[in-house]
Amino acid sequence: MFKIFVTRKIPDVGIQFLRGKKYDIAVSPYDRVLTRREIIKYAKGVDALLCLLTDKIDGEVMDGIGTRLKIIANYAVGVDNIDLEAAKKRGIIITNTPGVLTEAVAEHTIALLFAVTKRIAEADRFARAGKFKGWEPMLFLGSGITGKTLGIVGLGRIGGEVAKRMRDGFNVKIIYYDLTRNEEMEKALGIEYFSLETLLRTADFVSIHVPLLPSTKHLISEKELSLMKSSAYLINTSRGPVIDEKALVEALKKKIIRGAALDVFEFEPKFSPGLAKLNNVVLTPHIASATDETRGKMSELAAQNIIDVFSGGKPKNLVV
Ligand code: GLV
Ligand code: GLV
Repeated sequence: MFKIFVTRKIPDVGIQFLRGKKYDIAVSPYDRVLTRREIIKYAKGVDALLCLLTDKIDGEVMDGIGTRLKIIANYAVGVDNIDLEAAKKRGIIITNTPGVLTEAVAEHTIALLFAVTKRIAEADRFARAGKFKGWEPMLFLGSGITGKTLGIVGLGRIGGEVAKRMRDGFNVKIIYYDLTRNEEMEKALGIEYFSLETLLRTADFVSIHVPLLPSTKHLISEKELSLMKSSAYLINTSRGPVIDEKALVEALKKKIIRGAALDVFEFEPKFSPGLAKLNNVVLTPHIASATDETRGKMSELAAQNIIDVFSGGKPKNLVV
């Protein structure tokens, strides 16, 4: 019988789906991130590992689990927590959960853009602290959105969805940068390709949608921040290390840019010193895909990828 280990409780639909196939499935007894040792201990000898983006899975962990391991189904679209080369070398299949979280992450990106420009979190803290003494002409002035320019860095599924919604809903002009131009999407969305440098100089809002790779680590650092308009905002719902967070804290302190809204952090779950003290930043704890709808579908998709492999087929969401 095929054995599966799930590193943490996830929405039940995927688990039920696997149980229905009569596999031997075990879920972590703890509701927390497992250590490497615990993953190896509990997953020893399994055929499939269903893991989270908070689990670092490298060659050593793969070897510790053993040679029966056929598939690592990541419960995430990003796969930067897994050593893909090590998996390839060992003939282990890696899958992710793309598509089903595109809308949720696009929605959260837009929510962050609104939150930071309208100063929602800061104003909420002010109101709750009993500081509201009546309407004032200059109280919490923020930035308008309609008609401005949004720079998308990384025009994949999520970047494209943010672009479409902002263009259609708020008459926002969309420009983008990506490693490769996507002329089909440019035409479909009516958007323009810019170099990263020109995008940063031009955009009123910059939103990051690239995967974390060695080439995208610190893609936005001191130099890039200094190119941005002092009235501009930076949004990140991709992966924390894409931004040099220390440089961002400095840029926010010195008002090099006007604000930032982040769902992901370079040293997650920790914040760089000073970040959480700033008022011109909105912080959410890596929850962009956290809707009832999306997390259920991610669970189903991760399970389906395992079932596909166990049935001898090609999984729907093959990464390597
Ligand atoms: C969330 O960050 C994901 O990659 O699914
Ligand atoms: C991720 O799903 C992306 O392609 O944006």
